[in-house]
Amino acid sequence: MDRIIVGITGATGTIYGMRLMEMLRTDPNMQIHLVMSRSAKLTLKMEHDFEPGRLLDLAHVVHEVSNIGASISSGSFRTRGMVIAPCSIKTMSNIAMGNTGDLISRAADVVLKEGRKLVIAIRETPLHAGHLESLLKLSRLGAVIFPPVPAFYNRPKTLYDIVDQSCMRMLDHFGIDVHTAPRWGEEDGVPAVGQKIEGGKAVG
Ligand SMILES: Cc1cc2nc3c(=O)[nH]c(=O)nc-3n(C[C@H](O)[C@H](O)[C@H](O)COP(=O)(O)O)c2cc1C
Repeated sequence: MDRIIVGITGATGTIYGMRLMEMLRTDPNMQIHLVMSRSAKLTLKMEHDFEPGRLLDLAHVVHEVSNIGASISSGSFRTRGMVIAPCSIKTMSNIAMGNTGDLISRAADVVLKEGRKLVIAIRETPLHAGHLESLLKLSRLGAVIFPPVPAFYNRPKTLYDIVDQSCMRMLDHFGIDVHTAPRWGEEDGVPAVGQKIEGGKAVG
């Protein structure tokens, strides 16, 4: 059994955390550990009509954000790593500063100190110098800074087309292979420049 931690914070875009878990659910060997901040619960309410239970049910284990003694707060509990999507400036800054007062920042700090993968889907714009300095610090510590910036070369038609492309690429960093959006230059994907095309699709 492989494990991955999904953190959802109060930045807008709770749909990213939800779609990530839906994609992770397609792997029967993956155990999802979810931790949501209090603000994430508020944002979720503002962004969706469904009950929070629908999101919580996607996780195998749900941790309270205040439980800093949870399994994922220790490096001896082995995980593939952690993705925080969406990640607020507050949580990102806490991680950058080593402020590990809640379970999201603690679990992220543990992932970093153990040399595991930490993907931070930072969601804010514009960014001031303080934000950028914290992000640079995290990048130097080994985190993957992944603002969920949409691609347009795959001609997205729906919100899910946009969200899924970012989520697929976040999971790529864990070596988790999902095919929820056309890939550049891949078979059945978006033809790369100069690539052979048959029936409008890239081949070879
Ligand atoms: C609807 C809504 C949208 C928000 N969007 C963002 C955002 O995109 N980025 C951000 O950093 N904070 C955003 N915030 C503010 C955070 O929720 C707030 O800073 C909170 O303290 C973050 O706490 P957390 O990191 O523990 O979730 C938003 C708040 C609300 C209510």
